[in-house]
Amino acid sequence: MNTQEQLKKAVGEKAASFVQDGMKVGLGSGSTVYWLVHALGERIKEEGIQIEGIPSSIQTGAWAKEFGVPLTNFAETKELDITIDGADEVDPDFQLIKGGGAALFREKIIAQAAEKLLIIVDESKMVNYLGAYALPVEILPFAWERTVHEIKKLGCEPELRMKDGEPLVTDNGNFIADCPFEKIEDPADLDRKLQAIAGVVETGLFINMADTVIIGNSEGVTVKN
Ligand code: 5RP
Repeated sequence: MNTQEQLKKAVGEKAASFVQDGMKVGLGSGSTVYWLVHALGERIKEEGIQIEGIPSSIQTGAWAKEFGVPLTNFAETKELDITIDGADEVDPDFQLIKGGGAALFREKIIAQAAEKLLIIVDESKMVNYLGAYALPVEILPFAWERTVHEIKKLGCEPELRMKDGEPLVTDNGNFIADCPFEKIEDPADLDRKLQAIAGVVETGLFINMADTVIIGNSEGVTVKN
């Protein structure tokens, strides 16, 4: 396992220790969350804790099944105790860019549903300003060219995310526009402007949502509130 993978494993394991018996847990997406789900499966086996998760992607649901983490859904459960997820960038105010794995829409739903949002990252994701990572924005396939045209007016050159020569289709049947703003001075303002464009389903800006960030670096794991 390389060093970055070890950091992901360490923060995933630390995050799993925040989950208590009886909790309903939102499960984010991505390679760091893989280790969270793995660690939760271990705790269920070894300590017998009883929890239920709601996954934010088909992939995370498959990992939950693989590691023995029971799942529920929003028909059964409207509120979650905690959501744990990765991020692509985290700024000093805990504003986030997410959506590198194209799961941002469901990730935002499980983040909003939770009493606490805990973010797990390695230190390479900590930035002074958001935007070096191209902001993922989920858009409707209908008139996507027009939606991208409107996004462009906000100061970036969006690129439609592709997979195998075709537009990537999210778990929700939509497309992703990756928007390189480079330096986002006011994430809340940009989020409002993007959300005002018809055709934008959801943005990868998670504003005032994260309560706690767990950061892995070569010295170990740091928890910031
Ligand atoms: C997926 C996400 C992920 O949380 C984000 O991309 C981080 O992933 P990783 O842990 O693999 O670096 O937002 O949509």
